[in-house]
Amino acid sequence: MTPAGAYLDHAATSPMPDAVLRAYTDALRTVGNPASTHSDGQRASEVLETAREEIASRLGCDPAELIMTAGGTESINLALKGIYWARRRAGAGPIVLIAAGEHHATVEAAEWLRDTQGADVVWVPIDAEGVLRPEALGQAIADAGADNVALVSFLWANNEVGSVLPVEALCRIAADAGIPVHVDAVAALGQLPLDFARSGAAAMSLSAHKIGGPVGVGALVLGRRTSADPLLHGGSQQRARSGTQNVAGAVGFAAAMRLAIDADGVPHEARITELQRLRDRLVAGVRAADPSAIARGAQGAPDRLPGNAHFTFPGCQGDSLVFLLDAAGVSASVGSACQAGVAEISHVLLAMGVPEPEAAGALRFTLGPDTRDDEIDALLAALPRAISGARSAGLN
Ligand SMILES: Cc1ncc(COP(=O)(O)O)c(C=O)c1O
Repeated sequence: MTPAGAYLDHAATSPMPDAVLRAYTDALRTVGNPASTHSDGQRASEVLETAREEIASRLGCDPAELIMTAGGTESINLALKGIYWARRRAGAGPIVLIAAGEHHATVEAAEWLRDTQGADVVWVPIDAEGVLRPEALGQAIADAGADNVALVSFLWANNEVGSVLPVEALCRIAADAGIPVHVDAVAALGQLPLDFARSGAAAMSLSAHKIGGPVGVGALVLGRRTSADPLLHGGSQQRARSGTQNVAGAVGFAAAMRLAIDADGVPHEARITELQRLRDRLVAGVRAADPSAIARGAQGAPDRLPGNAHFTFPGCQGDSLVFLLDAAGVSASVGSACQAGVAEISHVLLAMGVPEPEAAGALRFTLGPDTRDDEIDALLAALPRAISGARSAGLN
């Protein structure tokens, strides 16, 4: 980010605050493998387990339920594949119910299960706000027959359009049918209170770098009554996951959670209120700059992530807007994956029923704890030119 610019892509990755950097780099000096029995190993194990307890206490789970992983993608793969295999061995049917509009980690893992493991993947429709409604899940379970379903997976909050799902109600429906639920809570972490025990989920995926922790560090909360076959075989250091444990990664994740949730003395609600104020300023400014811009996803708390604003701009290509804003020092995102350098139209917007030409004009802004008013100013100053530039490029 240039001094006069703005970083408005915290959902892609959020910069590491100084306090987290200090905790993380100090922990990198830890001597010893936490699985070793000598004193150095035991000290490393103590550091690791303290971090695990701290993370678990902020997620409403038991430390024994918290499996540290190498990020959200690994957590999701372990949940989907591991639970699928364990459930199939226990006699469950091959149907996997996945909400439409999930993150690519879920989509690709589910398609792999379908293409290579005999899974029958059913995409459960989401509504125009990007939300999986309890009625839609109930209908999908009834259509499939509960005994035929191995698992259900959906987002806690949609990482593109920011809508929050009714997680407890959805989990209750699946639990009543005896089906385990995996929830991808990567986008919700730090912005919404997450209580695993209360949610009723069987498994929940998280990632550290979305809240200013280290990249390549994540967690899968796996309920004590849920079985998952491992993806990685080896020393069985953790339940369902082998590999030497990343002590510094766990410390960095714990420090990021401490800051994101307790915010060093600033109450979480006050931080969220400030995030919402900045986001609402941004939304009002975008609407003033282009009254034809359409806000996507659920609008207003508590149905929307406080740090997310998402629009489609008629007649524009989202990637042109990202390019033109970048030239003005503003980082934003189309919100969808670029695979092999080719920008794709968002599968989330398409699943919400947005027509393809409209979905092509998507632009997502995501704010974080260090977002300032002058970043919103920088965006709003750069936006009118970016929109007219993108629109005239779109007309050629
Ligand atoms: C909702 C969601 N799930 C999963 C992931 C993957 O997490 P990671 O980058 O830690 O692999 C992301 C990151 O983009 C995400 O936004």
